[in-house]
Parts: sequence; C-alpha cells; structure tokens
Amino acid sequence: MESFLIKGGVPLHGELTVSGSKNAALPIMAAALLADEPCVIRRVPHLSDTRFMAQILESLGAEVKFQNGALTVRAKKISGYADYELVRKMRGSICIAGPLLGRLKQARISLPGGCVIGARPINLHLKGFASLGAKIKIEGGYVDASAKKLTGATMFLGGRAGSTVLGTANVMMAATLADGVTVIESAACEPEIVDLAKFLTAMGAKISGAGSPTVTITGVGKLHGAEHEVIPDRIETATFAIAAAATNGEVTLKGARPEHLRAALDKLNETGVLVRQRGADLIVRRGKKLRAVDVTTLPYSGFPTDVQAQMTALLALAPGISIITERIFESRFMHVSELARLGADIEIEGPSAIVKGGRPLSGAPVMASDLRASAALVIAGLAAKGTTQVNRIYHLDRGYEKMDLKLRKLGARIQRVEENS
Ligand code: EPZ
Repeated sequence: MESFLIKGGVPLHGELTVSGSKNAALPIMAAALLADEPCVIRRVPHLSDTRFMAQILESLGAEVKFQNGALTVRAKKISGYADYELVRKMRGSICIAGPLLGRLKQARISLPGGCVIGARPINLHLKGFASLGAKIKIEGGYVDASAKKLTGATMFLGGRAGSTVLGTANVMMAATLADGVTVIESAACEPEIVDLAKFLTAMGAKISGAGSPTVTITGVGKLHGAEHEVIPDRIETATFAIAAAATNGEVTLKGARPEHLRAALDKLNETGVLVRQRGADLIVRRGKKLRAVDVTTLPYSGFPTDVQAQMTALLALAPGISIITERIFESRFMHVSELARLGADIEIEGPSAIVKGGRPLSGAPVMASDLRASAALVIAGLAAKGTTQVNRIYHLDRGYEKMDLKLRKLGARIQRVEENS
C-alpha cells in the first residue's frame, strides 16, 4: 500500500488545470447505458472510481475504451445484473440502476452496503422507481427493480438531509424512457445534476428545470449516442484553493468555473482568504490573517459536505473558535482524531466540531479513512512543520487525479512511497 511523505512548511505557488469532475463523470458514464449507440465523454478524470465504473459497464456487456483523452462507451447489448464483487468497491455504482431500469425495464443490483461517513440508504432511489411503476424486491443483498413499462409520475424526493444527488440522477435517467411526464420535487440542484441533464438532452431526452428543486422529464421512445465534455471538478478546485491558503501561498486554478462553488469561496473569503476570479480561472492567496468562522454543510447551493474536512484543516490554523456542523452525513469527522495527531485542538459535540484554532501543526504519521478526510490530512501535512506520512492513500486516488504530481508542480515537497519504506 502507498503513502504520501510530506515535508511541510512550503507555500504553494503556481498554476494548475482542474481535472474533470468525478461526481459528474460517474452518472454520465452510467447514462451511456440508456442508448445502444456510442457515447463519447471527454475530460473523464483518471481515477480508481472511474476505472471501477468502466469495469462495471463492461460487466454489463458494454464496450468501454479510453482513447486520446476521451472515453467511448457503446452499450449495444447489455444485461441488467451487477454483482456484489464489483458494486461493493464503489457506492457510486448505484447510479447504473436508473439507466438499466429505464432501458431494460429490469435491474438486479447488489445493495451498496455501509460507508464510513454514514448509513447512506437508497430508500429515496427506490421510492422514485416505485413511483414510476417499478416493482421493488430486496433479497439476498440484492435489489430487484422491474416493470412491464414505466409511467411518468410526480414525486417528492426529499429525505432526512434534504435532496439526494444520485437519487435524483437515477430517477431522472429512468424517467427519460418512461411513458409520459415525470416531475421530481425536492430534486438535487448540484452542478453535476445539470451536467448529467445536459448529456441526456444531447442523447435526445426531454428535461427541463435541472439545477432547480423541480425537474420535469417528458419520456421518449428511444435515446441515441452523443458527445459530451464533463464539467471541472469543483471539489478538487476547493481542495487546492484551501491548500494554497493553508500554506500561505498563491495558486491559480485554471478552468475552475468558480460559479459552481460560491458557498465555499464565500466562506473562504470570510476566513480572510483572498479569492479572485479571472474569466474561468481562480486566483487564491491567504490575506493578512486567517479568521475563525462557523460552517454548516447543506445541499447545493449551500456549503458542500465534500469540502467540510478540508475546511476543518484550514480552520485548525485560524486563531479563535470555529464551529463546523455536518448536516448531510452522520459520521463525517473521521479526520478530526488524525488532525489531533498533528497538534490540532478539535472536539466533537453532536453534529459539530468545535475547533480551537491557531496552534502550529507538527508532522506525524496519520491514517486516511475516506476520500475527503484524506485530502484534509494532506493539507494539514503541507502546513505543518516537519514530516507527515499519510497512509492508505488509495482513498485519495479514488477522487484526485495525480494529486502528488500537481502539488509538486506547485512546489510542495511530497512523495508517493510504499507504506513501510
Ligand atoms: C453524492 O453522493 C456524492 N457522490 C457524494 O460525494 C456527496 O457527498 C453527496 O452526493 C452529497 O453531496 C457522488 O456523486 C458519486 P446523497 P450521494 O444521496 O448521491 C441521505 C465524494 O466525496 N439519503 O445526496 O450518494 C444520505 O444518507 C462523495 O466525492 C437517504 O437518506 O449522496 C445522506 O445523508 C462522498 N436516502 C443524504 O441523503 C437515499 O435514498 C445525501 O446523500 C439517498 C440519500
């Protein structure tokens, strides 16, 4: 297993181009199952998660090719069965259910199982499918959804924490090939949903209202192949912006699309970080002094839960008390005990982390637990004095394309090493 060895204390400087969005690419790759013609998807990031999705599409019978920076998926003849061995590797694979149900009127998929950041049930996905007329059966760890035909319906898809991103994506995809009109109320408004709707529309789907809480899909008989370029990764953008601020550096993020992460940029501003937009680029540098702030994670366009851990690492450096409240996932503070190993002073109180910031951090060996928690440990290691070893970085490789190379390009002293070397 690999680790990152980080010698901290170097301000990051320079520019880098943001990769394509993992969370847009995954449902868009799955959406290619809706047509039997080739779909060409550009700017799909090279990550273990997109590789897993490609393997899952191939296991269903699709042809998948990565060539010249583009991914081509041809789902000429496919089956509706995805087994546990593949699905358990990546929760996001649940988003093949909608396309399979839409096209084949039948999907048998292993239930995704637990996750360190929360229970993450799929009851809203299944509620949406049932509203379209599908029969749902859960047996032996598999969910079976089938229907003679799907019929458009109006449904409310809000849950305990508000809207569901992949739930909205799944129902939207199934509804593209249903008879009649489907209206999703309390739909997720994330930019990834808008990007998926754009791709589906290019395939011939009829969708309006994507990006708002009410999405309307008018079913069509058949979809065709299409071409699409995935949006830039707003979570990667926020991660590097926070790394620049934490190391007191200055970084230009090229092709970032700042309009996709206003809440995070606004909070950075409040923290005393200077954020400037130049066209689609973002220039980030720390101002005179970091300030403590309160943060609450919310569905889009609120502060993204996928930036909470990285923000916690930054606020460990800001003198004063910051309160960070996680409203989306029940247990998304795995990074806190590891940040404490670097000297951070953080206490968990119910859904909140109370950060007593301003203590200098010092390097230590730490353990990654999930994708965004590991990004927080890298940021803290870059800001800390001495050497930090972040173990189990396979978590990072799931969602960050060549993170160590990009950081080295910005001047960081970071190396990828074998865990016990
Ligand atoms: C997507 O997950 C992202 N993953 C997550 O990013 C992100 O954290 C999350 O949206 C929220 O923004 C991908 O896009 C691949 P949800 P998703 O359904 O769709 C509850 C990362 O770091 N819920 O919007 O699975 C759920 O438990 C990952 O890149 C139900 O109760 O998340 C959670 O508390 C991590 N029932 C809340 O809703 C359901 O049927 C939001 O989950 C579905 C969800």
